[in-house]
Amino acid sequence: MNQDELKEAVARAALAYVVEGRVVGVGTGSTARKFIDALAEMKDRIPGALASSEDTRKRLEAHGIRVFDLNEVESFPVYIDGADEVDRRLRMIKGGGGALTREKIVAAVAEKFVCIVDRSKYVETLGKFPLPVEVVPMARAYVARELARLGGEPCLREGFVTDNGNLILDVGKLGIDDPVETETRINQIAGVVSNGLFALRRADVCLLGTEDGVRTIEAE
Ligand code: 5RP
Repeated sequence: MNQDELKEAVARAALAYVVEGRVVGVGTGSTARKFIDALAEMKDRIPGALASSEDTRKRLEAHGIRVFDLNEVESFPVYIDGADEVDRRLRMIKGGGGALTREKIVAAVAEKFVCIVDRSKYVETLGKFPLPVEVVPMARAYVARELARLGGEPCLREGFVTDNGNLILDVGKLGIDDPVETETRINQIAGVVSNGLFALRRADVCLLGTEDGVRTIEAE
Protein backbone atom coordinates (compact mmCIF):
# COMPACT_ATOMS: atom_id res chain seq x y z
CA MET A 1 0.00 0.00 0.00
CA ASN A 2 1.22 3.50 -0.73
CA GLN A 3 1.06 6.38 1.74
CA ASP A 4 -2.23 7.62 0.33
CA GLU A 5 -3.86 4.21 0.78
CA LEU A 6 -2.54 3.96 4.34
CA LYS A 7 -4.06 7.37 5.11
CA GLU A 8 -7.34 6.20 3.59
CA ALA A 9 -7.31 3.06 5.75
CA VAL A 10 -6.79 4.94 9.05
CA ALA A 11 -9.36 7.57 8.08
CA ARG A 12 -11.97 4.85 7.56
CA ALA A 13 -10.95 3.04 10.76
CA ALA A 14 -11.55 6.27 12.71
CA LEU A 15 -15.27 6.15 11.88
CA ALA A 16 -15.59 3.48 14.60
CA TYR A 17 -14.75 6.18 17.18
CA VAL A 18 -17.47 8.59 16.08
CA VAL A 19 -20.28 8.60 18.62
CA GLU A 20 -23.71 8.62 17.02
CA GLY A 21 -25.90 11.52 18.12
CA ARG A 22 -22.90 13.62 19.20
CA VAL A 23 -20.75 16.19 17.41
CA VAL A 24 -17.27 15.11 16.34
CA GLY A 25 -14.13 17.26 16.31
CA VAL A 26 -12.29 17.22 13.01
CA GLY A 27 -8.64 18.00 12.35
CA THR A 28 -6.83 19.43 9.35
CA GLY A 29 -4.59 18.06 6.60
CA SER A 30 -4.67 15.36 3.95
CA THR A 31 -5.50 12.51 6.36
CA ALA A 32 -8.23 14.56 8.04
CA ARG A 33 -9.65 15.36 4.59
CA LYS A 34 -9.98 11.62 3.91
CA PHE A 35 -11.71 11.26 7.27
CA ILE A 36 -14.18 14.01 6.35
CA ASP A 37 -15.02 12.24 3.10
CA ALA A 38 -15.61 9.00 5.00
CA LEU A 39 -17.63 10.82 7.68
CA ALA A 40 -20.03 12.05 4.99
CA GLU A 41 -21.34 8.47 4.76
CA MET A 42 -22.69 8.70 8.31
CA LYS A 43 -23.62 12.38 8.36
CA ASP A 44 -27.29 11.62 9.09
CA ARG A 45 -26.28 9.94 12.37
CA ILE A 46 -24.45 12.94 13.88
CA PRO A 47 -25.72 16.47 14.57
CA GLY A 48 -22.57 17.95 13.05
CA ALA A 49 -18.90 18.66 13.60
CA LEU A 50 -16.35 21.08 15.06
CA ALA A 51 -13.74 22.29 12.59
CA SER A 52 -10.08 22.96 13.41
CA SER A 53 -9.53 25.20 10.36
CA GLU A 54 -11.30 27.09 7.61
CA ASP A 55 -10.19 24.40 5.14
CA THR A 56 -11.86 21.73 7.25
CA ARG A 57 -14.98 23.84 7.77
CA LYS A 58 -15.39 24.29 4.01
CA ARG A 59 -14.96 20.59 3.28
CA LEU A 60 -17.42 19.57 6.00
CA GLU A 61 -19.99 22.06 4.71
CA ALA A 62 -19.45 20.92 1.14
CA HIS A 63 -20.59 17.47 2.30
CA GLY A 64 -23.65 18.98 3.98
CA ILE A 65 -22.28 18.42 7.49
CA ARG A 66 -23.28 21.20 9.90
CA VAL A 67 -20.33 22.97 11.54
CA PHE A 68 -20.87 24.16 15.11
CA ASP A 69 -19.18 27.10 16.83
CA LEU A 70 -16.99 25.66 19.63
CA ASN A 71 -18.50 28.23 22.00
CA GLU A 72 -21.86 26.47 21.64
CA VAL A 73 -20.47 23.09 22.73
CA GLU A 74 -19.48 22.39 26.31
CA SER A 75 -18.06 18.94 25.71
CA PHE A 76 -17.90 16.31 23.01
CA PRO A 77 -16.56 12.77 22.92
CA VAL A 78 -13.89 12.63 20.26
CA TYR A 79 -11.46 14.67 18.16
CA ILE A 80 -9.90 12.99 15.13
CA ASP A 81 -6.80 14.43 13.47
CA GLY A 82 -3.53 13.57 11.73
CA ALA A 83 -0.02 14.46 12.89
CA ASP A 84 3.41 15.12 11.45
CA GLU A 85 5.13 12.94 14.04
CA VAL A 86 3.88 10.77 16.90
CA ASP A 87 5.95 8.87 19.45
CA ARG A 88 5.07 5.71 21.36
CA ARG A 89 3.68 7.74 24.28
CA LEU A 90 1.38 9.42 21.73
CA ARG A 91 2.96 12.83 22.04
CA MET A 92 2.92 14.59 18.68
CA ILE A 93 4.29 17.32 16.47
CA LYS A 94 1.48 18.94 14.48
CA GLY A 95 1.01 22.07 12.42
CA GLY A 96 2.46 21.05 9.07
CA GLY A 97 -0.76 22.50 7.66
CA GLY A 98 -0.49 25.57 9.89
CA ALA A 99 -3.69 24.88 11.84
CA LEU A 100 -1.98 24.03 15.14
CA THR A 101 -3.65 26.65 17.33
CA ARG A 102 -7.24 25.79 16.43
CA GLU A 103 -6.33 22.09 16.51
CA LYS A 104 -5.01 22.53 20.04
CA ILE A 105 -8.15 24.37 21.13
CA VAL A 106 -10.57 21.78 19.73
CA ALA A 107 -8.42 18.94 21.10
CA ALA A 108 -8.42 20.57 24.55
CA VAL A 109 -12.21 20.41 24.76
CA ALA A 110 -12.48 16.84 23.44
CA GLU A 111 -12.80 13.93 25.84
CA LYS A 112 -10.68 11.71 23.57
CA PHE A 113 -8.06 12.48 20.89
CA VAL A 114 -7.72 9.87 18.15
CA CYS A 115 -4.61 10.41 16.03
CA ILE A 116 -4.69 8.95 12.51
CA VAL A 117 -1.34 8.52 10.76
CA ASP A 118 0.49 6.35 8.28
CA ARG A 119 3.53 4.46 9.57
CA SER A 120 6.02 7.09 8.28
CA LYS A 121 4.86 9.44 11.08
CA TYR A 122 5.62 7.02 13.93
CA VAL A 123 9.02 8.01 15.40
CA GLU A 124 11.31 7.06 18.25
CA THR A 125 12.01 10.70 19.22
CA LEU A 126 10.10 13.83 18.21
CA GLY A 127 11.93 16.60 16.42
CA LYS A 128 13.08 15.57 12.98
CA PHE A 129 10.04 17.37 11.59
CA PRO A 130 10.62 21.15 12.11
CA LEU A 131 8.40 22.35 14.94
CA PRO A 132 5.74 24.85 13.75
CA VAL A 133 5.33 27.87 16.04
CA GLU A 134 2.50 30.36 15.44
CA VAL A 135 3.55 33.95 16.20
CA VAL A 136 1.91 37.35 16.24
CA PRO A 137 3.43 39.19 13.22
CA MET A 138 5.02 42.06 15.21
CA ALA A 139 6.88 39.50 17.39
CA ARG A 140 8.32 37.46 14.49
CA ALA A 141 11.95 38.60 14.78
CA TYR A 142 12.00 38.57 18.60
CA VAL A 143 10.49 35.09 18.81
CA ALA A 144 12.96 33.85 16.17
CA ARG A 145 15.88 35.15 18.28
CA GLU A 146 14.51 33.47 21.41
CA LEU A 147 14.02 30.16 19.58
CA ALA A 148 17.60 30.38 18.30
CA ARG A 149 18.72 30.90 21.92
CA LEU A 150 17.06 27.56 22.71
CA GLY A 151 19.25 25.98 20.03
CA GLY A 152 16.64 25.90 17.27
CA GLU A 153 16.88 27.08 13.67
CA PRO A 154 13.68 29.04 12.99
CA CYS A 155 12.60 29.61 9.41
CA LEU A 156 9.65 31.80 8.41
CA ARG A 157 7.02 29.89 6.42
CA GLU A 158 7.02 32.12 3.34
CA GLY A 159 3.71 33.46 2.01
CA PHE A 160 1.66 31.76 4.72
CA VAL A 161 -0.85 33.40 7.07
CA THR A 162 -2.79 31.30 9.58
CA ASP A 163 -6.58 31.35 9.93
CA ASN A 164 -5.94 33.61 12.93
CA GLY A 165 -3.97 36.18 10.90
CA ASN A 166 -0.58 35.15 12.29
CA LEU A 167 2.72 33.78 10.95
CA ILE A 168 4.45 30.41 11.31
CA LEU A 169 8.10 29.85 12.20
CA ASP A 170 9.22 26.28 11.43
CA VAL A 171 11.95 25.43 13.91
CA GLY A 172 14.55 22.83 13.00
CA LYS A 173 17.34 21.35 15.12
CA LEU A 174 15.48 21.58 18.44
CA GLY A 175 16.55 18.71 20.63
CA ILE A 176 13.21 17.62 22.07
CA ASP A 177 14.31 15.36 24.93
CA ASP A 178 11.42 16.43 27.14
CA PRO A 179 8.38 17.34 24.96
CA VAL A 180 6.30 18.71 27.87
CA GLU A 181 9.15 20.96 28.97
CA THR A 182 9.82 22.20 25.42
CA GLU A 183 6.13 22.83 24.76
CA THR A 184 5.76 24.80 28.00
CA ARG A 185 8.96 26.78 27.51
CA ILE A 186 8.16 27.90 23.96
CA ASN A 187 4.64 28.92 24.99
CA GLN A 188 6.17 31.33 27.51
CA ILE A 189 7.92 33.44 24.86
CA ALA A 190 5.98 36.69 24.42
CA GLY A 191 4.38 36.76 20.98
CA VAL A 192 4.01 32.99 20.66
CA VAL A 193 0.38 32.02 20.14
CA SER A 194 1.01 28.27 20.37
CA ASN A 195 3.47 25.65 19.22
CA GLY A 196 2.98 22.35 17.43
CA LEU A 197 4.05 20.11 20.29
CA PHE A 198 1.05 18.17 21.59
CA ALA A 199 2.58 16.70 24.75
CA LEU A 200 0.54 18.40 27.48
CA ARG A 201 -2.52 17.20 25.59
CA ARG A 202 -1.32 14.10 23.76
CA ALA A 203 -3.45 11.60 21.86
CA ASP A 204 -5.38 8.90 23.71
CA VAL A 205 -5.40 6.50 20.79
CA CYS A 206 -3.30 6.28 17.63
CA LEU A 207 -4.54 4.46 14.55
CA LEU A 208 -1.37 3.62 12.64
CA GLY A 209 -1.56 2.60 9.00
CA THR A 210 0.87 -0.24 8.23
CA GLU A 211 1.32 -2.83 5.48
CA ASP A 212 -0.26 -5.38 7.83
CA GLY A 213 -3.34 -3.29 8.49
CA VAL A 214 -4.37 -0.60 10.95
CA ARG A 215 -2.67 -0.95 14.35
CA THR A 216 -4.37 0.55 17.40
CA ILE A 217 -1.96 2.03 19.95
CA GLU A 218 -3.35 3.21 23.30
CA ALA A 219 -1.60 5.85 25.41
CA GLU A 220 0.56 4.28 28.14
C1 5RP B 1 -2.20 20.44 10.22
C2 5RP B 1 -1.71 19.24 10.94
C3 5RP B 1 -1.84 17.93 10.25
O1 5RP B 1 -2.54 17.05 11.07
C4 5RP B 1 -0.48 17.38 9.96
O2 5RP B 1 0.27 18.34 9.25
C5 5RP B 1 -0.55 16.07 9.18
O3 5RP B 1 -1.02 16.33 7.90
P1 5RP B 1 -1.24 15.20 6.81
O4 5RP B 1 -2.39 14.37 7.27
O5 5RP B 1 -1.53 15.97 5.55
O6 5RP B 1 0.04 14.40 6.71
O7 5RP B 1 -1.23 19.28 12.04
O8 5RP B 1 -1.93 21.61 10.92
